[in-house]
Amino acid sequence: MPTVAIVGMQWGDEGKGMAVDVFCESADVVVRFQGGNNAGHTVVVGDDKTILHLLPSGILHPGKVCIIGPGVVIDLRVLAGELDGLAQKGRDVKVGELYISDRSHIILPLHKDLDILREKAKGKGKIGTTGRGIGPSYEDKASRAGIRVCDLYDPEVLKARLEGVYREKRVLFESYGGSLKPMDELETELLELAERFRPFVTDTSLLLHELIATGKRVMFEGAQGTMLDIDHGTYPYVTSSSTLAGAVFAGSGIGPGMLDCVIGVAKAYTTRVGSGPFPTELAGEGGDYLRERGAEYGSTTGRPRRCGWLDGVVLKYAKRLNGVSRLVVTKLDVLDGLETIRICTSYEVNGERLETVPASLAKYSSCKPIYEELPGWPNETVKTARKYADLPENARRYLDRICEMLDVELALVSVGPRREETIVIGDPFAAL
Ligand code: GDP
Ligand code: IMO
Ligand code: MG
Repeated sequence: MPTVAIVGMQWGDEGKGMAVDVFCESADVVVRFQGGNNAGHTVVVGDDKTILHLLPSGILHPGKVCIIGPGVVIDLRVLAGELDGLAQKGRDVKVGELYISDRSHIILPLHKDLDILREKAKGKGKIGTTGRGIGPSYEDKASRAGIRVCDLYDPEVLKARLEGVYREKRVLFESYGGSLKPMDELETELLELAERFRPFVTDTSLLLHELIATGKRVMFEGAQGTMLDIDHGTYPYVTSSSTLAGAVFAGSGIGPGMLDCVIGVAKAYTTRVGSGPFPTELAGEGGDYLRERGAEYGSTTGRPRRCGWLDGVVLKYAKRLNGVSRLVVTKLDVLDGLETIRICTSYEVNGERLETVPASLAKYSSCKPIYEELPGWPNETVKTARKYADLPENARRYLDRICEMLDVELALVSVGPRREETIVIGDPFAAL
C-alpha cells in the first residue's frame, strides 16, 4: 500500500507542485484533498510553465490517475478553464485520467463576490485572501448550506439548495452593498457545467480504495501550508481548510492506517502572501533581494510575496503537526551569492525564550527571531548540481544543519524551477 503525502511546511508556495511533478515519475495516482483554487502550483518542464489551481500536479503526466477529493472546494468555471488551457497546449485530459468527487463542495460566483466584499469591508484588517471564494464556500459547507457536486445532477435538489443559499445571501449582500446574480442564471450555468463534468464525477473514496488494493502508488498533494492551517496556523490569518497531513484522511476518504510516509516541503528561506505575523520577515533590501532572485510573486494573484530567512521554529512545528519524516528543500539557488545565511532557531518575546509557535496572535506578532549564522557560498552556484555531492560544501552544510535540526532525511533538493533542476536523494516510494 505505498502512499505518500506531500505537504507545505511554511505559509504556502514552498514548491509542492514541483515536488509532486518530480516524484510523479514513480506514482500512479495523485490526489488533491483540501483547499481549492486559492492554490497555485507551478510545474516547469523545459521552457513550458503551467500553473495548476485545482487539477493535481500529476495531470502533466499522461496516463496517471488524478483525483479531486471530497475535501476540495471546486469552482467549476476555473476547472473548465484549466482543462481548456491544457488542451490548448496539446494535453487533452481524457476520461479515466481525472476523477472528481461527487461529495466535493462547489464554489459559487457569489462566494467569490462575498470574499471580495468582506475583504474590502475589513480595510486594513483584511486577511489578504486570494479572493477566490474559499472562505465563504467552506462556511456554507460547515453551516450545511453548501452545494455538492452530486446535487448538480438532480435539478430539483439543486433548485432547493440554491433557494436556501440565496435566502441567506440576499441579506448578507444587502448589508455589504453587493449585488447578487439572478438565481435562474446561476442555475442554468451550473447545469451546463455539470454536463461537461459528468463523465469525471464518481465516488472517489471507493475508487481510491480499489486503486490502493491493486497496489497502485498514491501521492496526496497538499495545498497551502502548515502556517495557513485553520486550526494550527496564525489564526485568523489562515485559509479555511485543514492543510495538514491529517486532512488527507477525511479529505480523500481513506483511514489513518493507509498513509505510509509524509514528506514536508520547505523553501530554503521563507515567504508569505497576505497579512499576518511573520517573525523572520526581512523588510527593505534583504527582502527585496530574495523576492527578485526568487521571482517571489504569487502564482494565483501575482501579489509580491513577503520574504525572510528560514524559520526553524516554524519547520519544527510543521514536522510535529504533520509527522514529517522526509524533507524537500526548494529554491536553494536563490541563496547563491550570499556571504552568510541565517536560520531562526528560537524566538524571544518579553524576555522569554520560545521554542515553538504560540497560539496567541498578539504574542506571535511580538516574537523576535534568534538566529544562527552559517557561511554562504558567495562565489559558487548550486544551479548546475544534479547530485548531492556536486553542491558547494557550504550549501551541503546548510542542508545538513536543517536536517539535523529537524531530525529528518532529505528526499529532494531543487536548484532551479525546471523539472530537471533537481537532486533526487531518495525516491519516496522506493522504501515502501
Ligand atoms: P506551490 O504552491 O507550493 O506549488 O509553489 P508555487 O508554484 O506557488 O511557488 C513556487 C515557485 O518557485 C514557482 O514559481 C516554481 O516554479 C519556483 N521554483 C520551484 N523550485 C524552484 C527552485 O529550486 N529554484 C527556483 N529559482 N525556483 C523554483
Ligand atoms: P499554495 O497551494 C500561499 C493565503 C492567502 C491569504 C490566506 C487566506 O499555492 O501554496 P484564502 O484565499 O485561502 O481564503 O486566503 O491564505 N493562501 C496562500 N498563500 N499559497 C497558497 O496556496 C495559498 N492559498 C491561500 O494569501 O493570506
Ligand atoms: Mg503556490
